[in-house]
Amino acid sequence: MRSSFQTLLLVLVLAAAASSPILSAAGVSPPVHHASVLPGAAATAAANDTLQRGIVATNQIAHNVTSTLHIISDLVRDLNTCTVYYMTMAKTVAGALDDLHAGRLVNATDKLSDALGAPGDCDIVLNGVGVIGKVARDPIRQENDENEKLVHLAIDILNPPRS
Ligand SMILES: *[C@@H]1O[C@H](CO)[C@@H](O)[C@H](O)[C@H]1NC(C)=O
Ligand SMILES: *[C@@H]1O[C@H](CO)[C@@H](O)[C@H](O)[C@H]1NC(C)=O
Ligand SMILES: *[C@@H]1O[C@H](CO)[C@@H](O)[C@H](O)[C@H]1NC(C)=O
Repeated sequence: MRSSFQTLLLVLVLAAAASSPILSAAGVSPPVHHASVLPGAAATAAANDTLQRGIVATNQIAHNVTSTLHIISDLVRDLNTCTVYYMTMAKTVAGALDDLHAGRLVNATDKLSDALGAPGDCDIVLNGVGVIGKVARDPIRQENDENEKLVHLAIDILNPPRS
């Protein structure tokens, strides 16, 4: 036959078992039990609560770090693509300079027109599909805009737009 104390203990243990995991999983702290009857159990529960909340918080870190690594990895891949575009552009611009030094205006203009694509293509790659979250993924947007403007400027000098 159970004493009333044993019954109370059983009820407390069952209540804790029923409520704690659900509340913890939802990131909610279980209510503090003012169980003056069982100070040892209350202390243990408080320690466990700290652990549970620590687990939730640390899981969040792990999740966000993984997500950040994905973003960095995508950026590295896309910046490498832009490197290829810009290396091609550098060669084309050098060729246009050679043409200009040799007086070949039409050839230079053709090459500059080819060079015009790289900054915009780079923007497309960095802004492109697979955007993760709200992260601004184009760290060289300003440089791309500037380079495109410079090429337009040179083309306009060699081939003035008629007004
Ligand atoms: C702490 O909580 C875990 C469940 O998250 C449980 O397995 C464990 O028995 C609890 N420990 C104590 C001392 O309450
Ligand atoms: C962690 O990730 C979540 C969801 O992806 C996001 O809402 C939150 O801002 C991130 N926290 C930090 C500190 O970056
Ligand atoms: C210049 O362009 C013309 C065609 O427009 C081409 O026939 C010629 O080979 C080019 N010259 C050089 C040096 O690339």
